[in-house]
This record gives sequence, C-alpha cells and structure tokens, in this order.
Amino acid sequence: MDKILMHVGPVTIKDDVLLAGVKNNVGFTSKEFVDAFSSSLKGLRYITKAKSYQPFIIPGGGTSAMESVTSLLRKGDNVLVVSNGVFGDRWEYILKRYPVNVDVLRPKPGYYVKPDEVKEMTEKKEYKVVTLTHVETSTGVREPVKEVISKVRDNVDLTVVDGVSGMGAEEVNCEDWGIDVYLSASQKALGSTPGAGLLVLSDKAVNSISEDSVAGYYLNLKNWLPVMRSMEEGKASYFATPPVHTILQLSRALAEVEKEGIDNRVRRHQVVSGAIRAGVESMGFSTVAKLPESYSNSVTGVELKKADPKKVMEMSLSEGVEFAPGVHPAFKYFRIGHMGWVTPNDAVVTISVLERVLKELGEDIRLGEGLRAVQEFLDSKQERH
Ligand SMILES: Cc1ncc(COP(=O)(O)O)c(C=O)c1O
Repeated sequence: MDKILMHVGPVTIKDDVLLAGVKNNVGFTSKEFVDAFSSSLKGLRYITKAKSYQPFIIPGGGTSAMESVTSLLRKGDNVLVVSNGVFGDRWEYILKRYPVNVDVLRPKPGYYVKPDEVKEMTEKKEYKVVTLTHVETSTGVREPVKEVISKVRDNVDLTVVDGVSGMGAEEVNCEDWGIDVYLSASQKALGSTPGAGLLVLSDKAVNSISEDSVAGYYLNLKNWLPVMRSMEEGKASYFATPPVHTILQLSRALAEVEKEGIDNRVRRHQVVSGAIRAGVESMGFSTVAKLPESYSNSVTGVELKKADPKKVMEMSLSEGVEFAPGVHPAFKYFRIGHMGWVTPNDAVVTISVLERVLKELGEDIRLGEGLRAVQEFLDSKQERH
C-alpha cells in the first residue's frame, strides 16, 4: 500500500522534486549545478522575505545550520536561549561546546516563553545573541517570534531564529520583523530531501562573521561566504563538496514553492493543520501545545489517554499513514507532521485512520465525529483546489 508521511521531515516528496536529483553526471562546477545553487539562494530570500539578506546553503541540515551560528560569536559572548522543548535545548548543547556564556529560558512543557519574559532577561544582561525556535518540533509549539523581537530588538545585537519547522509553513518576514538569522533544513516544510542546512543573514549578521569567531572550520560561515557569493553570480566555487543532488532537488522544490506563492503555501498549511486539530480535539484528545495562539502550522502533538503511542503509530502505518513518535519526556504522545505538500485530503485521511485505530486501541471514540469536524472546518474555509 502507498503510504503518506504525516511526519516531521522528511515528508512525502513530489516526484518531480525527487527526480530532479536523479542524475548521474552532474559535477559541482557544471552550469546545471551552479544555476540550481544560484536559484536556490534566491529562493531562500523570497520565502523568508529577506530581499537584502545573504543566503547560505551548507551541507548537513538544521543542526549544522544551528552550529554555524557560532561564526557570529566571540569568546566570552553572552547568548540567551529561549527554549520551548527538545530542539530549543539543542542550542544549549551546541553552544556549551564553545567558550561562550549561555542562559536558558524555559516555560512549562507545552507552553511557550512569553515575550515579556525574554524582554526582562535582556534588560538584566547584555546579550550578543538571543535564539528563538519558531516552531518547536518536539511539542508543536510556535513562539511569537515577531512579538518577541519587537520587544528585545534594541537590547540585543543579533536575533537568531531556528525556522527548521517554520520555513515554508509559517509566516515570516525577516526584514520587517528584524530577524538577523533565520535558518532551516531542506527536508521539512520545503518538501525536499535531507542534506542541506539553510540560512539567511542580515547585513549586521554577515558583518559579525569574524576571523576570531569561536567557530571551527567546516561550519565556519567565513569559509562558506565566498562560495555563496560566487555561486549566486553563476561562477563555480569550492570550499568543501556541496550535497549536489540534494541541492538539485531543493532548487526544484523552491521553484514549486514560488509557483504556489509563499503566502498561499502558508495559508494551505494553516488550513490543513487547522483541520487536523479540529479532528483531534473533537475526538476528545488534547494537543501537546496548550495555548491556541501557539498552535503551529507544521506539527501537532497528540496526547493519548489509554492507547500506547507506539501501537497507534504501528497500526496507522499498516493503514497507510506514518506519524512521528513523541520525543518530549513530559508527555505520552505521538506527533502528526503536516508540512510540505500536504493537502486538505491528507487531513481527511489522517483523521479517518486515527479514528479507527484509536477506537481499536480502547480510546473512547465515536466513529465519524473527528471526520465531521474536519469536514466542517474545511467547509468553513471553503478551500477549493
Ligand atoms: C526545530 C528544529 N531544529 C533543529 C532540528 C535539527 O535539524 P536536523 O535534524 O536537520 O539536523 C530539527 C529537526 O527536526 C528541528 O525540528
């Protein structure tokens, strides 16, 4: 049976995106590759509304993009990490490997750190960088990035946002919101294959990349910057081998995103995620994200009452839908990823499979109730594709 990947990345990938990388003879200095690299860099500016920013595509994924932010830090700098879960905490683990000082703000699990709490911290101490996680993939909680930055912009040098589960699914406007670094990975809401870490940097952030940063060698953006500039101008350049086939696929995915229009894409994610949540809630389950204003467009954690999440995932898979396991220790849950090329019909299939599986596993389900909520939600949005 064909299955759909309602996962947190990689997600189901369009055939033409996948096939764009199935080439046996593309060199990293070839025109075909340089053109794909160049258009991908431009595509990153488009989807993050960062016209004047410097984009980067580096090997790896979200974690390599995160670690490359050390290129902006010098020994002894203070960093404030705003962490709503497992991936926010990753900043702390990364940064503690370097000679910088790290403070962490955390909410109760399932909640988010409030903008005023971040503001208060930045008034007490001088921070070079504050890091935010746009969508915390472990909980599905969205941080109100725009509001936080508006409150701390004058107190901190650089604002860095992990948009790994945000880019392509959530509204973002780097220039208007005052984001200095927005980073992501190729395999999430852009709907491409894994292998590339993606960043856009403001002028201020680019100017902070220094000879004496604490960064190492491979993920030092100083080494990658000339490659980005050269590739964008159509001239091949080398620092270390780029993930050639991943970038061919990324370029195709970004072209598709542009065709759809980024605002339409964000809206599609809003509709599909809203439909899935309507289904989940009307079946009587609560989401891991506790506050409606923090519900994300890309991930929903579903807390279970009786059923074992592992069993739910196994049985759903045998019905053709693959979910992601929970990774936050505070909850008994699984995660529904709704990003990339998801459609309203995916929401219908997801909730229909879950109703049957959860009923069989002893949860108190009345078949059709979740589906009715999905249908009513979709009808209220009058989505016609
Ligand atoms: C919010 C967030 N940040 C960082 C990462 C790490 O990205 P990667 O696994 O591509 O290294 C992930 C991965 O799921 C993520 O969801």
